[in-house]
Amino acid sequence: MVIAPAAAVRTVAVVPAAGSGVRLGVGTPKAFVEVGGTSLLRRCVDGLLGSGVVDLVVVVVPTQLLAAARQLVPAGVVAVAGGVYRSDSVRAGLDVLHRLAPQAQFVLVHDAARAFTPAGLVVSVVKELLSGAVAVVPVLAVTDTIKCVDASGVITSTPDREGLRAAQTPQGFTVAVLDAAYAGELAATDDAGLVERAGVPVRTVPGHPMAFKITTPTDLTMAQALLARAR
Ligand code: CTP
Ligand code: MG
Repeated sequence: MVIAPAAAVRTVAVVPAAGSGVRLGVGTPKAFVEVGGTSLLRRCVDGLLGSGVVDLVVVVVPTQLLAAARQLVPAGVVAVAGGVYRSDSVRAGLDVLHRLAPQAQFVLVHDAARAFTPAGLVVSVVKELLSGAVAVVPVLAVTDTIKCVDASGVITSTPDREGLRAAQTPQGFTVAVLDAAYAGELAATDDAGLVERAGVPVRTVPGHPMAFKITTPTDLTMAQALLARAR
């Protein structure tokens, strides 16, 4: 395995890819599903490496697919086993970061399921970190009107859409800030949520439609169609 000398590693990308893809429902853990003959995991890793701003990539995969993952990713990419919850998987990736690149300054957490994320988005997150941000999230304006509902499904309020954004990944942090967030209670649906809870300001950069998350069969169909059109 070829890994950059520790001193040269400034930015580490942790790729949570250990989910089972229940909502996609194809029977294979989602990161190992192929689009156009290439797995989502490989596409995601290639996108990160192609950005030129990531020094080390750590993929976090289901235990039973660790050997398969090592075959799938380019030399130098480190694969480790994830956990039951996404936060367990991110923590496993952070442990590798501390072991292999203890002096790393920045960490990007990027869902394998956002396999078509343009390299330019990765660059813009890292640029924001380099300009002094300690936590950065790519966001898109919300196009649907969002409703709050109670347990019986009755609408309780309609938040003003102007102030709403959909969060994407890669989410970027200084290693110190993400470490501190992961030392607390892990009740949030994304990494930035944990950081916000710790009272740390989280900046946003414009997200990209191609950084969409493949979650449902419709998303997979869309990914296949977009790829076919690009070819
Ligand atoms: N993930 C992970 N470890 C988990 C759960 C999720 O690394 N225990 C990863 C997934 O592999 C995915 C990302 O976190 O890349 C976002 O999660 P999601 O889209 O919910 O994927 P799954 O959990 O696989 O899908 P589902 O919730 O439908 O089962
Ligand atoms: Mg999930």
